[in-house]
Amino acid sequence: MQDFLAISDFTSEQLMGLLQESRDLKAVYKSGRRDTCLTGKVLAMLFEKPSLRTRISFQVAMTDLGGNPIYVKPEDIGGIGKREPIKDIARVLSRYVDGIMARTFEHKAVTELARYASVPVINALTDWSHPCQAMADVLTIWEHFDRIEGITIAFVGDGNNVARSLAFAAAKLGMRLIVASPAGYELDTESIDKANGILADSVAQTHDPRTAVAQADVIYTDTWVSMGQEEEKEKRQKNFAGFEVNGALVAAAPAHVKIMHCLPAYRGYEITDDVTESPNSIIFDQAENRLHFQRALLKKLMS
Ligand code: CP
Ligand code: NVA
Repeated sequence: MQDFLAISDFTSEQLMGLLQESRDLKAVYKSGRRDTCLTGKVLAMLFEKPSLRTRISFQVAMTDLGGNPIYVKPEDIGGIGKREPIKDIARVLSRYVDGIMARTFEHKAVTELARYASVPVINALTDWSHPCQAMADVLTIWEHFDRIEGITIAFVGDGNNVARSLAFAAAKLGMRLIVASPAGYELDTESIDKANGILADSVAQTHDPRTAVAQADVIYTDTWVSMGQEEEKEKRQKNFAGFEVNGALVAAAPAHVKIMHCLPAYRGYEITDDVTESPNSIIFDQAENRLHFQRALLKKLMS
């Protein structure tokens, strides 16, 4: 395991190993003990987009393990791939630090960093995928259901980066993902076919949220307007009408259904305030688990 760019790059055993390590390290930290395996190590964190969870949880995880995170705003380095080629950034940073994590618009930017860096590179969200999020999500599901295999997730919303990483997590770890999106916002067929090639029938696409949630253990949603799509805000809000995760939709799901959202949540759009705050919501456990998964990931890649 050199880089962490996509869930589909790993075997089920490797992914389960990371999840088990997340649980083990979580228990260590919850009991007040520490693991300082990254003492003296430095992580460069490059962000082209805003972040609350990813930035702070990586920063805390790195510090917890005894290491040092360095936060780099794009303007600090003249933009990623603007002032100098990405391959030069990768090679220079590799001379200074022990790991690089990057949140970029283009997915190609993180693969280019990984190609030229001699230290591990972590995908902290691109327009294409969000693998750290999906792994924290599976950890949360495991804790709440005491199993991963056989869980059905109804993803109601945009078939974008978060949905795509969940699709590969489902395929690799024996879950089923049903994506319900308006026409034009489906998960791409190439990703669906690839996921179903890993595990038959693990991912399906529908235009009907009620059908999607009927057998769901989890209802999951994400913003209708991802970072970088702000100009399409009005159009998207119109086109996603009817895809809000609200009380009526939750009532169409089994009573035990759990509600998940990667956050940030835009209440009154993709999810209502009452559903976000309901007893079925495990949204904040999910946000917490970003820290626990990433601690395990950093240990695995950098120690
Ligand atoms: N879910 C997530 O990645 O949140 P941030 O954009 O705040 O990092
Ligand atoms: N799809 C969202 C996820 C935010 C964590 C975005 O890309 O903005």
